[in-house]
Amino acid sequence: MTDRNLHQIADWNGRTGERWVANQARLDRMLLDYGRAAIAAAAPRLGEQVLDIGCGAGAGSLALASLVGAKGGVLGVDVSEPLVGRARELAEDRPNARFQVADASRALLPVAHFDLLFSRFGVMFFDDPAGAFAHMRKALKPDGRLTFVCWRGTGENDWVRLPLKAIAPIVGPPAPPPPEAPGPFSFGDRARVERILAEAGFVDVVLKPVDHQIVFGEGKTRAAAIDDAVDLAFQVGPLTRALADQAKAVVEEAKIAVRAAFAAKAGERSVVIDGAGWVVTARNGAS
Ligand SMILES: C[S@@+](CC[C@H](N)C(=O)[O-])C[C@H]1O[C@@H](n2cnc3c(N)ncnc32)[C@H](O)[C@@H]1O
Repeated sequence: MTDRNLHQIADWNGRTGERWVANQARLDRMLLDYGRAAIAAAAPRLGEQVLDIGCGAGAGSLALASLVGAKGGVLGVDVSEPLVGRARELAEDRPNARFQVADASRALLPVAHFDLLFSRFGVMFFDDPAGAFAHMRKALKPDGRLTFVCWRGTGENDWVRLPLKAIAPIVGPPAPPPPEAPGPFSFGDRARVERILAEAGFVDVVLKPVDHQIVFGEGKTRAAAIDDAVDLAFQVGPLTRALADQAKAVVEEAKIAVRAAFAAKAGERSVVIDGAGWVVTARNGAS
């Protein structure tokens, strides 16, 4: 299949990738606790080799590179040229972190080389997830392990549920995506993740819920923080897709509704919203 993942590759090299680069610092702050939870579960050791799947701007790769030390190494793989460009800039003083622009589901990877396959929110975008994980598993040592963090469903993630609910009276409820369509919430269903990883040859698959509040907006005042949250919601995530073809007046109306929803959330000079993820661990079934 030659056209695999083409939609995601175009998206992450187009507007989505550009917006992620533009918002890299605050997205990294938002995702920090989830990344830390995944790294704690992965427990990287000095000298280990790690593959960071869908590494984006490399926050996970850089944290892992410092933990595996100079004798270890991290290879970050991502389809997005702009995000890998940012990762390389941020990694200038980390020679044991390298980056490759490639589709992880078919990248040329060394066989049985990595101790750890890792990802922070980078594995939910494959058209054929079982095929992708089976391919990446070949790069894992026989006794190697897999650890990643992904989102649970939209219904549990208020940072997306609340704004989508707020715009529903204006643009109608969002069309439910096909249940297995690639996207940030496509690994929300525990049984689906277990099935994908079993099919790909992993064993001892464990999904643990990990819930952290997300600082979605920040500012010098509460009003500025709410504006910041609205700005982010209209740049990154499902709202951008839900409003993609709408007239300017409709988008403005939607902004007012989302602002009201965010204003109801906690925070002094921030907007703090609940998030819900899985930390998933597994072992190579080849061992
Ligand atoms: C939600 S972002 C997470 C980025 C980064 N891991 C982080 O935590 O900041 C998802 C990433 O997956 C990447 N991605 C999507 N499909 C991919 C594929 N087939 N192979 C490699 N990377 C992919 C995107 O380009 C994007 O950088």
